[in-house]
Amino acid sequence: MTLTAQLKWWQSGIIYQIYPRSFQDASGDGVGDLRGITARLPYVASLGVQAVWLSPIFTSPMRDFGYDVADYCDIDPLFGSLEDFDALVAEAHRLGLKVMLDYVPNHTSSDHAWFQEALQGKGSPKRDWYVWRDPGPDGGLPNNWKSFFGGPAWTLDEASGQYYLHQFLPSQPDLNWRNPDVREAMFEVLRFWMRRGVDGFRVDVIWLLAEDERFLDEPANPNWRPGDIEHASVEHIYTQDQPETHEYIREMRAVIDEFDDRMMVGEIYLPVEKLLPFAGTPDEPMVHLPFNFHLILMPWDAAQIRTFTDSYDAECRKAHTWPNWVLGNHDQHRFRSRVGDAQYRVAQTLLLTLRGTPTVYYGDEIGMSNVHIPLHRMVDPAGLQQPESPTASRDPERTPMQWDDSANAGFSAAGTEPWLPVGDNYTTLNVQAQENDPSSDLSYFRALTRLRQEHPALLAGDYRSLDAGHDKVFAFERTLDGDRLIVVLNFGSEELDLSNGTHGETLLSSLGDQPEAGAPLRPNEARVLRV
Ligand code: NOJ
Repeated sequence: MTLTAQLKWWQSGIIYQIYPRSFQDASGDGVGDLRGITARLPYVASLGVQAVWLSPIFTSPMRDFGYDVADYCDIDPLFGSLEDFDALVAEAHRLGLKVMLDYVPNHTSSDHAWFQEALQGKGSPKRDWYVWRDPGPDGGLPNNWKSFFGGPAWTLDEASGQYYLHQFLPSQPDLNWRNPDVREAMFEVLRFWMRRGVDGFRVDVIWLLAEDERFLDEPANPNWRPGDIEHASVEHIYTQDQPETHEYIREMRAVIDEFDDRMMVGEIYLPVEKLLPFAGTPDEPMVHLPFNFHLILMPWDAAQIRTFTDSYDAECRKAHTWPNWVLGNHDQHRFRSRVGDAQYRVAQTLLLTLRGTPTVYYGDEIGMSNVHIPLHRMVDPAGLQQPESPTASRDPERTPMQWDDSANAGFSAAGTEPWLPVGDNYTTLNVQAQENDPSSDLSYFRALTRLRQEHPALLAGDYRSLDAGHDKVFAFERTLDGDRLIVVLNFGSEELDLSNGTHGETLLSSLGDQPEAGAPLRPNEARVLRV
């Protein structure tokens, strides 16, 4: 079997993230839904991606837009029904696409029947399914733990006089993963969806599952500066990356492995040395892919990205872990806005040619950027709760997909008000306008995914960085058997002569032409070469 054929779908394929509220509104209420997604699946398949990951679609009061689940085994009526979901899976599979769901195990909605039962009092059989503490010695909060969305991670239940833990909103109480009944109930959720044909899961905040049992204060973060979000003011040594979390993930993996060819990717914001252990070992595997968010967190700088990639690739090999790369998701500002218009294709090229699984956020393939949301239209609790941090709102990256130049960009019927405003540029920046334009961002994206199909070296080949002779250029090779491709990325705005070691026949240039071998690299150009 060739090396490429040995790769699993989640290694050779691209994961495409859909934020269901914003992809396609079929019902006409201004919010995207499952029937809308199903209708657009042929488009998704045409991109050359392998899997769709849907952000949460389960029953929810939507205080955190679905990341507050009130019933893990049903679909919220806003998105449709279980029948609509089955139809979506059938259509995806017909088109050769895998379906991944967003699994939210750390916390439920406070509307969940389990929490409502827990609120019945200290004697409730579900009380211990959540994390409760008596008030601290001064009669106030149990300790200094903080919510990601600002304020304390504890809310008082006046009826019982105890506080419950929530690392996010007060309406998102943390489940107590130390309780084996909680683990079993949550594992049943995975089985429920796998029996329905789901191929994989993105696991929400998987590195937060367990907390240290001593409930000690977390130490102050010496690097925190006023204006940074409050959550970062302490170091999360007792609420993140606990040894018990690793145990629970091993159990979770065993459940995934009860079914054929399924996978999970874990949401984990940690440095590489703490991130890769989440993949486990060949004997005791954990998540298939621990999300690597470092391209988002790092400055957009060729030399720093080279250093990072060299060490990440080497560490993945040592750890027998498959690498993966992310530029955008529903929690991060659009990468086009981060790196700037000129560098947009350089970034896209990097994402799709490095060794490892790329995840693509909907709309990034057509070059959508952050949409300015006026204060009165802001809906994200992360923004509303932290008015002192102007960039905390995630609304700008969650706006409706821009399909065409009709009213509401073809996302929602004319006359409806979409839940978030459509980007002003939709009349020119949309799928329809880009479909038949060979020089569009969409065509460039498809050219990159085609290149991956045509050159197994891009999927299964080794990675090695090269000296291009300039610090603003990141160059690397991907090699497999006799095939050798070189990727050269100009992070700067000057034309540069490439060193001999990086010459070759141009397979693709981000500027749309086919420069001769050895031709200077133009400002902001990305080029894929064959040697
Ligand atoms: C991480 C998710 O990506 C984010 O959108 C959500 O607000 C939190 N987890 C809480 O579930």
